[in-house]
Amino acid sequence: MRSLEIAVFMCRSDNYGVLVHEPESGKTVSIDAPDGEKVMAEAEQRGWTITDIFTTHHHKDHVDGNLVIKEKYDCRIVGPIEEAVVIPGLDLAVFEGDELEFAGHKVEVIETPGHTAGHICYHFVEDGLLFAADTLFAMGCGRLFERPASDMWPSLQKLMALPDETEVYFGHEYTLANAKFALTIDPDNAVLKERAEAVAELREAGGFTIPTTIGLEKKTNPFLRVADPAIRKGLGMEDASDAEVLAEIRKRKDNF
Ligand SMILES: [Fe+2]
Repeated sequence: MRSLEIAVFMCRSDNYGVLVHEPESGKTVSIDAPDGEKVMAEAEQRGWTITDIFTTHHHKDHVDGNLVIKEKYDCRIVGPIEEAVVIPGLDLAVFEGDELEFAGHKVEVIETPGHTAGHICYHFVEDGLLFAADTLFAMGCGRLFERPASDMWPSLQKLMALPDETEVYFGHEYTLANAKFALTIDPDNAVLKERAEAVAELREAGGFTIPTTIGLEKKTNPFLRVADPAIRKGLGMEDASDAEVLAEIRKRKDNF
């Protein structure tokens, strides 16, 4: 099995476009479709034909290009069953534990409600790749628009259970702001401080912070570190549940 090629590019103001290409079959999947023209231009420039779109959730900045891309490439659109009626052009509705195949690569569907009610992530199991869109960001997590922290916490735990080396592709370049916020919650975390400095330098130079890894997020992402005694002490929440701590950190981020 040949390895996959991944193209990452900016769409709209801060969305990441992501194309995954399998050279032998010539198949290419677009992870979401934030901007149809941008996604198609990127594919064309590389000589790739879009055969699939894997939709993570129904927000406009993730499905905006679905129909225009489908019209050009007649590609298959996969998306969450929970949001089936609001995903444009959906061909295949999937749910927790469904196993897809992309050019011979096994792709597992992980339901991660929180940001939206039906948000799903796509895990390329043997490749160690996770496409997490707006559930998990570098040092951040998605806003809780449609489900409470008590639903989001189990979603994040599912992602934390993946191997540490799993590469995580997320939906937005929010990393610098996330790092600044993370330092207010977890100020004595040496790994976080070092990462925040590296991110500031990288962004200054115009670099992308995608992908991250599950292992690095477990060490530096305050939304995954709700059980950490120092973080709980700082919040005055030593006896709260993990979901309560998550809710508090999310609330602070919303007002940051
Ligand atoms: Fe979203």
